[in-house]
Amino acid sequence: MQSPSTAPHGGVLIDRFAPEDKTHSFRERASRLPVLRLSARSLADVRCLATGIYSPLEGFVDEKTYDSVVETMRLPNGLAWSIPITLQVNEEQAAHVSRGSEVALADSTGRVIALLEVTDVYRPDQQREAERVYGTTELAHPGVKAMREAGNVYLAGPITVIDDLPEERFPELSLTPAQTRELFAERGWQTVVAFQTRNPIHRAHEYLTKTALEMVDGLFINPLVGQTKGDDVPAEVRVRCYLAMMEHYYPADRVMLGTYPAAMRYAGPREAVLHAVSRINYGCTHFIIGRDHAGVGNYYGTYEAQQLISQFSRDELDIQILKFEHAFYCKKSKQMATTKTTVSGPEDRIFLSGTKVREMLSRGEMPPEEFSRPEVAQILIEAYRQAAEREEKVGASK
Ligand code: ADX
Repeated sequence: MQSPSTAPHGGVLIDRFAPEDKTHSFRERASRLPVLRLSARSLADVRCLATGIYSPLEGFVDEKTYDSVVETMRLPNGLAWSIPITLQVNEEQAAHVSRGSEVALADSTGRVIALLEVTDVYRPDQQREAERVYGTTELAHPGVKAMREAGNVYLAGPITVIDDLPEERFPELSLTPAQTRELFAERGWQTVVAFQTRNPIHRAHEYLTKTALEMVDGLFINPLVGQTKGDDVPAEVRVRCYLAMMEHYYPADRVMLGTYPAAMRYAGPREAVLHAVSRINYGCTHFIIGRDHAGVGNYYGTYEAQQLISQFSRDELDIQILKFEHAFYCKKSKQMATTKTTVSGPEDRIFLSGTKVREMLSRGEMPPEEFSRPEVAQILIEAYRQAAEREEKVGASK
């Protein structure tokens, strides 16, 4: 049932879970190895590697691959790859690790979940990584900050998962690429558009996704639920919003909701390419890129992500990119529109900044219906109220 256009990136869907008959011996071996406790970000990468979201990668990249990705946005074999998937540790943690050895990777509680066959240990130039991948060396950039704080020694090599990964935060919404591929086929979807988001779905998102859905068989809403920066809406709250949107505004037989476990890097254009690759692996044929995709602050131009991804041909990146201009509600034509389709001037457009919306919600005010569906606004207002209450309690107990 699988159409040729949904082949995984690089041709093979990776699965790094140990075969059941081997897990016992692997665990025994792991019990004699130095244990490395992974950060939430690295755990998210382990999950993406193990389930094939990052196919064809089988583990954390070695120095040769790292250099190639950072400098040329390609793996050494020429395959498109925009952000190096790295395992960063500090000197103290690296002291027990050498090339050719093995390390047991553990979750935050110390429970061992995977083996790392160490093929390389290196200390790259992180200034260069920041410049090339993020376009800035400023620590005010959350992706650069996370990278600089994660340790300057990089461990590389294939991973093998030998025990249950930590339970997903939203188990009922967590689908591996093998599962999504099967589900798309079951539903008879030949063409599927993926939508990446790290926000509650507001009217502009809804417009993009529904416009895209007019052209394909199915829509895969695939919100990122890995680590995000502090002022982004927490994933728990967002998931409630997504479910409300699914219940009230999307047709159940044409839309599927599944979480994307990766952490946010805020690398704008380069992250858009990684996002597209991941969605190829989920089996999607189309991918939405709108304004300032995966951006933060003013680090990237509004359409820079669209421009960068256009440099790759369909032979290199086998997914159709649906590029959208800035969308808003047009009061003149009384409908959602973009800069491409509107007849209105700026005065007729309902566009609210994230800051403005946050202010309204925290005052308990509903943003206009042209900006957000009331069911979503209600969930957000309640979440802001609860967060304020928690803060008050913390303040009072100090
Ligand atoms: S992102 O970090 O996941 O890109 P966000 O959740 O805001 O952030 O955006 C999800 C997708 O919708 C991205 O492709 C983004 O470019 C697009 N997008 C968000 N808001 C708009 C808008 N008003 N007009 C056009 N595209 C938008």
